[in-house]
Amino acid sequence: SQRIALIPAAGHGSRFGTATPKQYQLLHGQPLLAHTVNVLCGCAAIDRVVVVISPGDEWFDSYSWPQAKLEVLRAGGASRAQSVANGLAALAADEDDWVLVHDAARCCLSPDALQRLLDEVGDDAIGGILAQPVADTVKQGKVGRIAATVPRDNLWLAQTPQMFRAGLLAEALQDAANPAITDEASAIELLGHAPRLVVGEAQNFKVTWPGDLALAAAILAARHA
Ligand code: C5P
Repeated sequence: SQRIALIPAAGHGSRFGTATPKQYQLLHGQPLLAHTVNVLCGCAAIDRVVVVISPGDEWFDSYSWPQAKLEVLRAGGASRAQSVANGLAALAADEDDWVLVHDAARCCLSPDALQRLLDEVGDDAIGGILAQPVADTVKQGKVGRIAATVPRDNLWLAQTPQMFRAGLLAEALQDAANPAITDEASAIELLGHAPRLVVGEAQNFKVTWPGDLALAAAILAARHA
């Protein structure tokens, strides 16, 4: 069976606050998406890397994409889950192929964390995800006032890649419009399965807010220094 990386990159980045979506913001002269693509294409254990962009994407074609393993699908949907479901449907993957869904916006994923996920999931019956133990104290409440403190032991922040067999993932994402599905693991959990948790890394954060670009640039610079 093959290992296929599927990168949803069809978001508008509304929290990011720029007209150009965050996946096309430049980092060291390359779009953020190119850094993400390079990490996955650089992994010898991954056979195909497929990017899902929006049908109305005006940016992808203005860059060159020399990576031999790279494929692009103009199949983005209204939500991240829908973009992943559309991409998966167009992949022509075998049921048993592994699909590693990875956010375009997590451009600082390290080769080590990616390899750890591949090693620890191995040929698990379900699959698994990278996740980071919660370090901060967690508060519940609306802006303005605390309602409660949530015990943080056993709390994890889900990252990507999230790695599942193509057949199981397609079944789980049949209801991609369900708002409870905020990542692939949550869809798999709704089927009654318990995906593996593999320790990720703080650096594998999702570029979301305007200041995040400078942080990502610093992480990538330190790695390539
Ligand atoms: O918006 P957020 O940062 O949670 O998006 C996570 C990833 O999902 C991003 O890489 C984004 O481009 C992608 N996405 C997508 N289709 C959407 C919304 C988000 O592919 N409709």
